[in-house]
Amino acid sequence: MSSDLPLLIHNASILQPDGSLVLGDVYIQNGIIQAIAAELSATDFSASDHTVKEVDATGLTLLPGVIDPQVHFREPGLEYKEDLFTASCACARGGVTSFLEMPNTRPLTTTQAALDDKLNRAAEKCLVNYGFFIGATAEMLPDLLEATPACGIKIFMGSMHGALLVDEEALLDQIFSKGDRLIAVHAENQARIRDRRQQFAGITDPAIHSQIQDNQAALEATQLALKLSKKYQRRLHILHLSTAEEAELLRQEKPAWVTAEVTPQHLLLNTSAYETIGTRAQMNPPLRSPHDNQILWQALLDGVIDFIATDHAPHTLEEKAKPYPDSPSGMPGVETSLALLLTQAMQGRCTVAQVANWMSTAVAKAYRIPNKGLIAIGYDADLVLVDLNTYRPVRREDQLTKCGWSSFEGWNLTGWAVTTIVGGRIVFDHGKLNTSMRGQALRFS
Ligand code: DOR
Repeated sequence: MSSDLPLLIHNASILQPDGSLVLGDVYIQNGIIQAIAAELSATDFSASDHTVKEVDATGLTLLPGVIDPQVHFREPGLEYKEDLFTASCACARGGVTSFLEMPNTRPLTTTQAALDDKLNRAAEKCLVNYGFFIGATAEMLPDLLEATPACGIKIFMGSMHGALLVDEEALLDQIFSKGDRLIAVHAENQARIRDRRQQFAGITDPAIHSQIQDNQAALEATQLALKLSKKYQRRLHILHLSTAEEAELLRQEKPAWVTAEVTPQHLLLNTSAYETIGTRAQMNPPLRSPHDNQILWQALLDGVIDFIATDHAPHTLEEKAKPYPDSPSGMPGVETSLALLLTQAMQGRCTVAQVANWMSTAVAKAYRIPNKGLIAIGYDADLVLVDLNTYRPVRREDQLTKCGWSSFEGWNLTGWAVTTIVGGRIVFDHGKLNTSMRGQALRFS
């Protein structure tokens, strides 16, 4: 089959595990990186039974494919917003080769059966690799402990309605006390949000969202999650850290078994975005101040925050056009995250190697995904070739996500994916998708 041809990438600027960029060639066979050298020739590898597909990567930079550890892809149940096929096409365009998806679908992913259903759907539809969280509820403790191969347990401590909201300390304590798998928390204090929602009732300016779900609501929940994690030495991951206060807290006390992530929007957008894009700036946790942006950046640069996730959470434009608070929270992200961060790198705010670490290497390490996140012999060939020279704007009409918009429309970015490779096979190349490709279920060691 042509799709399984070995690949020989020529003349790429290759990101090495030590963070340096070295010009050279990469040979891939059976989905694995087999050789990396200054110069490789197809004749070294051609045998009578197969040929080699050669890729000229002159002028391009080869990075490990992005592993996005927090996305909401809406299938099953909310496919009018997004589905696993459209979302994975958007991933391929964005250089995202693996994702970890959240349990707030319909039905909720709170049982082994619901997890298996998602895995089956993904095997049929996903162009890239996939993993799924199991959601914590009051009732589902046995499934939380045993469900496999879930990448972790997701707890919504706030910003969620219905069964997925787990905001009582006694119940949280019970979940933290049992088992040893990773717990990922959406940390916002629901009781505080509830009170403040009443206080600000009737205000339809979406900017009020950041005041209702304020910094204090996020800090209080993060403090509680940290307290429980320390009590049981339980592996904790804090999702989409959004405030300076939380970053400072983690700077002071962050046990070795705790990790944290930040989204591109919490780094690059702030409350001024409500004026320009209205409810398309509305998300949970909300956007904060320029001061928070700056402290989060510094925490990321200093290693207090470990990696980056998009929290890709698509809603239709019709839904977003509803007046606040009926407008849903969330924005898409997988198509723009890598270019957004690489643009920051090219503008001197960080290095390309740091971006690859935050968007791939560190994620693979934290979620214990074997053989991913580095360009090295024996590693899976999940790779992205990016163009760090050309700037192109984010345009609504280019978006492959089913929701069809971006909060970054008009931003002029570089570092766009030119070619995305999943398991040694090209799924996206110069604007074209190969929709017949399928990714694989991620393993967690
Ligand atoms: O803004 C958000 N929207 N944050 C979340 O954590 C959930 C998400 C969604 O599913 O829409």
